[in-house]
Amino acid sequence: MQKQVEYADAIKTKYPEQIVIAIAKDRNGKFNPITLGWTMIVSGKPPMMAIAVAKTHYSVEAITFAECFTIAYPSSEMAEAALYFGSHSGRDVDKFAEFKCETAPAAQIDSVLLADAVANFECTLEQHMHAGDHVIFVGNVVAAHTNAEAKKRLYTIDPDHKLGPAS
Ligand SMILES: Cc1cc2nc3c(=O)[nH]c(=O)nc-3n(C[C@H](O)[C@H](O)[C@H](O)COP(=O)(O)O)c2cc1C
Repeated sequence: MQKQVEYADAIKTKYPEQIVIAIAKDRNGKFNPITLGWTMIVSGKPPMMAIAVAKTHYSVEAITFAECFTIAYPSSEMAEAALYFGSHSGRDVDKFAEFKCETAPAAQIDSVLLADAVANFECTLEQHMHAGDHVIFVGNVVAAHTNAEAKKRLYTIDPDHKLGPAS
C-alpha cells in the first residue's frame, strides 16, 4: 500500500546513491573536479553517460568550454576527496592543488583520470540540455580504464553526504 507524501520525504528513500567525480579543464588550463550523485548511463551502443550539474556551479563553465570531461568512479577510500571536491568551487580554488589526489593523463581527451578510482571514463561532449536548475551533459565514452587493484565504489549511504561503500 502506498501513501502520498511530499517529494522531499519520498526522495530520501533513494540511498545508497552512486557517486562520480567529473573533471573538466577550464579556460585557464586548470582541471576542475566536481562530485556528483546525479548521473546515469544513457546509451550502450555507442556507450554514453550523462551528468546533471547545477547551473550555478563552476563546472558548467568548465565542461562547456572543454567540450570533454572525465567521469571517475571514486573508490570507498576516496570519501575525503569526494567531500572536498563536492564542497569547494573551482571558481575560488584550484581543488587539485589544495587536496592531494593522484591523477594520470587521459588517453583520448584533454583531461585527467583519478589514479585511485575504481574506473575512469573519458567522454567527449555530445550535447547538453537544461532541466530546471541543472544542466544535463551527455558524453560519448571514447576510452575507459579500470584499476588494477580490486576496489569498492563509493556511495552516499544517507542524507547529509554520509559516504561509504554500499555494503
Ligand atoms: C556526495 C555529493 C553529491 C553531489 N551531487 C551533486 C550533483 O549531482 N549535482 C551537482 O550539481 N552538485 C552536486 N554536489 C555538489 C557539488 O559537488 C559542489 O557544489 C561543488 O563544490 C561544485 O563545484 P564547482 O563549483 O567547482 O563546479 C554534490 C556534492 C556531494 C558532496
